[in-house]
Amino acid sequence: MHPKKPYYLTTPIYYPSGDPHIGHCYTTLACDVVARYKRMQGFDVMFLTGTDEHGQKIEKKALEKGVTPKEYVDVYVNNFKRLWERLGITYDRFIRTTDDYHVESVQKIFKQLYDKGFIYKGEYKGQYCTPCESFWTESQVVDGKCPDCGREVTEAREEAYFFRLSDFSERLEKLLTDPEKDFLEPQSRVNEMVNNFIRPGLEDLCVSRTSFTWGIPVTFDDKHVVYVWIDALSNYITALGFMNESFSDYDKYWPADIHVMAKEIIRFHSIIWPAMLMALELPLPKKIYGHGWITFSGTKMGKSTGNVVDPFILADRYGVDALRYHLLREMLFGMDCPFTNEMMLNRVNSDLANDLGNLVSRTVAMVTKYFDGTLPDTRESKPEDEELIRMAASLKPFVEENYESFHIAAAITEIFKVISRANKFIDENTPWILYKDEKSHARLASVLYRLLDTIRIVSVLLSPVMPNTMPEVWKQIGASAEETTWESAGVTDGLSANATVSPGNVLFPRVDIEKELAELAGISGAVPSVESKLAEPETECAPAVEEPAVRPVKPEITYDDFSKMDLRAARVVSCEKLEKSDKLLKFVLDDGTGEKTVLSGIAEYYSPEELVGKTVVYLSNLAPRKIRGIESHGMILAAETADGYRILGIQGEAIPGAEVS
Ligand code: MSP
Repeated sequence: MHPKKPYYLTTPIYYPSGDPHIGHCYTTLACDVVARYKRMQGFDVMFLTGTDEHGQKIEKKALEKGVTPKEYVDVYVNNFKRLWERLGITYDRFIRTTDDYHVESVQKIFKQLYDKGFIYKGEYKGQYCTPCESFWTESQVVDGKCPDCGREVTEAREEAYFFRLSDFSERLEKLLTDPEKDFLEPQSRVNEMVNNFIRPGLEDLCVSRTSFTWGIPVTFDDKHVVYVWIDALSNYITALGFMNESFSDYDKYWPADIHVMAKEIIRFHSIIWPAMLMALELPLPKKIYGHGWITFSGTKMGKSTGNVVDPFILADRYGVDALRYHLLREMLFGMDCPFTNEMMLNRVNSDLANDLGNLVSRTVAMVTKYFDGTLPDTRESKPEDEELIRMAASLKPFVEENYESFHIAAAITEIFKVISRANKFIDENTPWILYKDEKSHARLASVLYRLLDTIRIVSVLLSPVMPNTMPEVWKQIGASAEETTWESAGVTDGLSANATVSPGNVLFPRVDIEKELAELAGISGAVPSVESKLAEPETECAPAVEEPAVRPVKPEITYDDFSKMDLRAARVVSCEKLEKSDKLLKFVLDDGTGEKTVLSGIAEYYSPEELVGKTVVYLSNLAPRKIRGIESHGMILAAETADGYRILGIQGEAIPGAEVS
């Protein structure tokens, strides 16, 4: 027998700085689908996930709680593991960056990079907040103030080790743009990496810090701990036993077939990680795949935005497979995916209860009613059957290609087209009429067999997505283990001619959407709270996805409070980009009282020309503020959308100065 071919896939290792939420589920679920599918195909799969436990943020949070960082993370690591168990995630290994073997390997990797001259000692310059003992980068600082506590920051320096990332620019660009390799998917990200990061010049990367201690000590300079990325990214090889004795899987599984993540950490995986591997002279992973975000009102769903949804609640109420299905079906390749409970419940009812659930229950009920559960041998097929047969027969290669490339929603959509076609096949053939005439029973048996066999094929192909419910389908249609292998989904007429059906539980109960939404609204964690800050861009020397701080719900105000705001219509007289700023636009507005200068941080979302002549909603009596030496009067109102910030407009012709109330 041939040894099985290895297939190695990974999720990011998650920060256990709080509880996992729906946003965390997609990557792990997508990897689980592919891991299950690959195992069904006969691959020897290594599916790795884990937690990224070091860093200043966790050290601080632990201190606030009065526990050690390790005690702090233990709680959340456990909750991540509980969630993966609840969602049926079949990971093969779970790495914690606090595991001894990982610590040992990272220390050796760091030393090796130092010995080879790729790591050198230098000085890290940043904006320092003394009360918070935190360094911030220019882009994190808000108007010269600490983004955490709002106090003044000062420029400060700290001794640090740096990785010579700049040495690798050429090789990285070649790697990313090599059409043979297709190293990074989706393709659209390649340009972003090359044009925004590599070509403008890569800076050396700060890889150690002395201002906190919760990290892996640098063996040859114990004031320093390894900072973020060398620690985190190495997990993909230390978990296989690279430079440690705990595992001996490195030779078998490395290079990884795919590293999967959301878009905000693509840069680290497609630039820093290959550069590290090049420096270590190790093979590179075959593919990096970065999907979009699960969003809520246009913002990345995230812990510190407070807009999280607790997946345990949804899995308990509607079933794990319904939750898996919804997320996997909804997240289109390369796009962000808004999440609402209403969307999920609609999907449960339309796709799962109506289309799939009904197809199975109707078919099984008819075989039971008309033939006592087992179809007779006499059959009569017709040319009209061909379309359904052809659709079912061509499904497997399509699904394989799409699972393989993480176009999971596309695969599901195609499978559901066949499910719809099968439902239509019932209506076209009207089995209840065929039953009435004994002479049509052979035709009836043929129609029902076609349905059972189609259900078999679609359920096999859906089983990586809904691993709990599909075996129940197989029981109901009487399909054996051999008839539900991955291979078997490629052949029609694969169900034994005299399979015996057994009606069972309703697969996906319909939900009363209004009632459920009302109940969910009363459960803490079951609905996202409205939050409006965009995820901040990650920076080299800060943990990648430092999410924005929680913005608490503001206290109630009176009508009098509201009426203190002078909200008025204003016309944009001129608008230009502020020099040396990516974010700010400078406006001159006519608000009915004269011309006002206002700066607004929406340059990423508009070009100045498109705003000139527009009427905006303007808060005119906000105390003036000096930004970049320019006095800004008032504020232009904008709201978040899936495409970023959009300014509020007024329908119809509003006269500058008109009251907005
Ligand atoms: N620890 C780093 C990753 C190091 S990997 C060597 C990290 N951790 S994280 O906890 O912030 O996890 C980020 C990842 O969680 C994303 O890349 C994505 O896989 C998943 N998600 C968390 N929130 C998400 C959404 N709202 N939407 C989709 N996935 C997101 O970054």
